[in-house]
Amino acid sequence: MEELDKINEYFRSNKALWNDKTDVHIASDFYDNPSFLEGRNSLNEIELEYLDDIKDKKILHIQCHFGQDSISLARMGAKVVATDISDRAISEARRFNKICGTDVTFIETDTYRINQNVTEQFDIVFMSYGVTCWLPDIDKLAEQVYERLLPGGRVICVEFHPMLFTFDFDTDKISYGYYNAHVYEEDVEGTYAQNENQSVRGKEYFWQHSLEELSMPYINRGMRMSAFREFYYSPYNIFNSLREVEKGKYVYGDFPYPIPHIYLFEFVK
Ligand SMILES: C[S@@+](CC[C@H](N)C(=O)[O-])C[C@H]1O[C@@H](n2cnc3c(N)ncnc32)[C@H](O)[C@@H]1O
Repeated sequence: MEELDKINEYFRSNKALWNDKTDVHIASDFYDNPSFLEGRNSLNEIELEYLDDIKDKKILHIQCHFGQDSISLARMGAKVVATDISDRAISEARRFNKICGTDVTFIETDTYRINQNVTEQFDIVFMSYGVTCWLPDIDKLAEQVYERLLPGGRVICVEFHPMLFTFDFDTDKISYGYYNAHVYEEDVEGTYAQNENQSVRGKEYFWQHSLEELSMPYINRGMRMSAFREFYYSPYNIFNSLREVEKGKYVYGDFPYPIPHIYLFEFVK
């Protein structure tokens, strides 16, 4: 019980920061919202390869932020329900949904309470780029995902590779564990989209997860892995620390011997 209280406290603190980050992100070059509103698809080649047949498919998009990817999925013909803990992000997502003329259902909920707030089942559950680090226990995430998938449905997860996140990008030293040993608490100022922004300040709580921790909860539920990929680049220049080696491909460290930056997996129920 005490542990649950502690987790709720971490989530509350993170939610306050994500609320503050939302306005900064909407105005940032990183998210380039004007071109998105004009029709740019915010999804990347990496995930689009696995989202090629989504017309009329029901998709649950977890931790959708202010909705760019959810609306992009809807523009591709999917029927989308999207969730996030940040009320500010959800209200902005709803506003952009109206502007874009799409029909996404945005729901404010923390990921561990999705099953209390969504009853529908989906062909695809999708999550990407900065989701799992905000969750202490991946088994609890997989529990939500499994319940929400139709038989034969797929979960697609595209994420920053845990190997990349062992590095402190300021000092170039390995400073974080590869395994989920404990919560990390950091005083933050600014965000990955605008490093120095003073309006985003506070305590942030996050967790590292090994590839084993990230995948076994699905395998333990009897799901079949249908894709597993590792990419030597990130499509995002996070923290402005990466170098663009080809258009839209950013790497940390000395190309051509970099570490893995992104992984993608797909499991079928
Ligand atoms: C990096 S963003 C998601 C990535 C998305 N692809 C993007 O960049 O637009 C992380 C999102 O996770 C949400 N979040 C953080 N902790 C959460 C939790 N415990 N439950 C639900 N959402 C959470 C934040 O509010 C934020 O919108």
